[in-house]
Amino acid sequence: MAYMEWNPDYGTGVAEIDEHHKHLVELLNTAYEALTGGNRRERTMAIVDELVEYATYHFATEEYLMGAFPEPEKECHVKEHRAFSKRVVELREQMTRGETAITTTVLAFLGDWLTHHILHVDKKLGRHLVAAGMS
Ligand SMILES: [Fe+2]
Ligand SMILES: [Fe+2]
Repeated sequence: MAYMEWNPDYGTGVAEIDEHHKHLVELLNTAYEALTGGNRRERTMAIVDELVEYATYHFATEEYLMGAFPEPEKECHVKEHRAFSKRVVELREQMTRGETAITTTVLAFLGDWLTHHILHVDKKLGRHLVAAGMS
């Protein structure tokens, strides 16, 4: 069973953003599979690296859109993205040091952050973008 299921409630109204979010959920599920399979630590670390890279790309897309369709709450939204990136890098460093318990912490953090950010921040951005004429 997948760790996190895509849910229509996560839809932002903007197809490009939704596709990115679906890919992030997929990466999270791949991390879960790695965690419950063999070769856990190396595989989970590789997925975290991929997730950091993809999240950076995704955040840049949202931030570009917040500039193209001026969003008054951009600063606050960007702060959330930066805080996430910082935390993931910290978790990645802890994993490198071999703190094995970190794997479950990583998944819980990623899943909770993603769900909360999509539902409370990205959906708001989606409504703004749709109202501004983007879909
Ligand atoms: Fe966002
Ligand atoms: Fe997002």
